[in-house]
Formats: sequence, C-alpha cells, structure tokens
Amino acid sequence: METSSKDTLYERAEHAARTIRARGAEEARVGLVLGSGLGAFADDLEEAVAIPYEEIPGFARSTVEGHAGRLVLGRVAGVPVVVQQGRFHFYEGYALDEVTFPVRVLGLLGIKSLVLTNAAGGLNNSFKQGALMLISDHLNLMGVNPLRGANDARFGTRFPDMSDVYDREFQEATICEAHAMKLELKRGIYAALTGPSYETPAEIRMLRALGADAVGMSTVPESIVARHMGIKVLGISCITNMAAGVLDRPIDHAEVMETGEQVRVTFTELLRRTIPKLS
Ligand code: HPA
Repeated sequence: METSSKDTLYERAEHAARTIRARGAEEARVGLVLGSGLGAFADDLEEAVAIPYEEIPGFARSTVEGHAGRLVLGRVAGVPVVVQQGRFHFYEGYALDEVTFPVRVLGLLGIKSLVLTNAAGGLNNSFKQGALMLISDHLNLMGVNPLRGANDARFGTRFPDMSDVYDREFQEATICEAHAMKLELKRGIYAALTGPSYETPAEIRMLRALGADAVGMSTVPESIVARHMGIKVLGISCITNMAAGVLDRPIDHAEVMETGEQVRVTFTELLRRTIPKLS
C-alpha cells in the first residue's frame, strides 16, 4: 500500500515499518541512534542488513558529515537490534516530526528500549574531552516540542509524564558494565539547543546556572517521542570537546568527529555489554 501526504503520521510510520519488516526486522527489541562520530558501532553487528534511508518511505535524508544515513538491522550479543546510523537534526531544517519519524517507526517495529547517543560539549569541570556521560535528565531548550499538534492516541497520551525519561534501571545496568570495564562513566544533565552555531561563552555560563553538565543539538526530541510511546530510554553523551569559553580555543566539527573516533573502542564495548541488559 502506498501512502500519501494526506495520511496521518501513524499511517506513514506504519508504512515505513512494513517496508523494514519485509527486509528482516521482525523481532528487533532494542533500538539505537548513533550520534556524530559514533556511527562505527553499526559496522560490526552480527547478521547485519543495512537499509539506506532513501529506501524507507517517509524517512528524510541525513545531510551532516559523519552521519551515514542508513538503518542497520542485526544482533548484538544475540539480541536483535535496529540501529539508526545517522540521525536528522532540527538545525538541518527538518520539522521535529521528521527528526523523530525514525523513532516512531522503531516503536511500531516493536522495540521496547531505545539507546540515544550523541556528541556533546562538556560544561562540568570534572569532564575531560573523550569522557562518556550517562544522561540522567535533560533540559529542552530548543523552544519546540515534538508532540506539538494533534495527539494520536495510538502513539500515546496527550500529556506524557517526563519525570523519568532516562530509565533508572538502564542507568544502573550501564554503570555496572562501565565498572566492570574500569571505565570512569560520568553522569549528568544534557541541555539541547537547536544549533547549528555552537554556544557563546555567555550561553555556556547560562547553561551552567541552569544545571546543565553537557550541551548538544539532538536527543531530546527523540527521547520525548520515545517516552510518548512508552519506550524506555538510555542516553549516552560522548564529550567531544569542552564547551565554549571553558578552554581558550574555538570548537570545530572536525574535532568533534575525531574525538568520536578516539572513543570508538570503549564506546562500542560499553554498548555491546549493556544492550543485553536492556531487553
Ligand atoms: N555544543 C553543542 N553541541 C555540540 C558540542 C558543543 O560544544 N560538541 C558536540 N556537539
């Protein structure tokens, strides 16, 4: 069945889910979204099938360097997963419906858990470049909410609770695995701004005053949509750089990507160990 622009978001997501199911995502239980520079995790999945976004109806195109733009179905330590290798950002010009469309589709494919990863700037002085931070909570400073507009009750309730966005048991499981790896895992609050310009030092002082530990341009819309659908969320930030004004040097995207590459082995190992605990 084809879909048209008159179809509801739910119908469009169903159509995409059917297309993906036909390619083998029958039983995916855990979804992952890989952030800037962190896409390598999808390259060594077991029994992997990759579907370029162009082949999935309703998916937008990823325009950012370092974002592959494909969905990878496979297994991690035997657990069936579906991985979004490359995400859509609000700053690319997409509406939040488009940014979060893949999460809607993953939800309809039946995932119960979603791992959201991102590159972020560090505000907390105890952080160093390359640190991994478990997201304990977020500040939505994007000025928009992905649930704005008519609510489709097939997805979830009009006013979803956000008191526990990042699942506590998932956080415990991740801490446990980091401990076993002798990895110092940070924990903190992620603030989302729209970007694409990085922050000014004054904005970073403001974010500190608001209680943020890290800042980025993603994740929050996807986590809100996941909670709307009752999907449990784990969030991990890679601190690719210290935020503006913390160190006396400018921030650039190449550095963000390089740090992602440097943590690749540790990051992959942490995910590989944690995923079986999330299903
Ligand atoms: N600010 C916002 N987003 C980011 C940063 C930053 O410093 N680093 C990586 N993503």
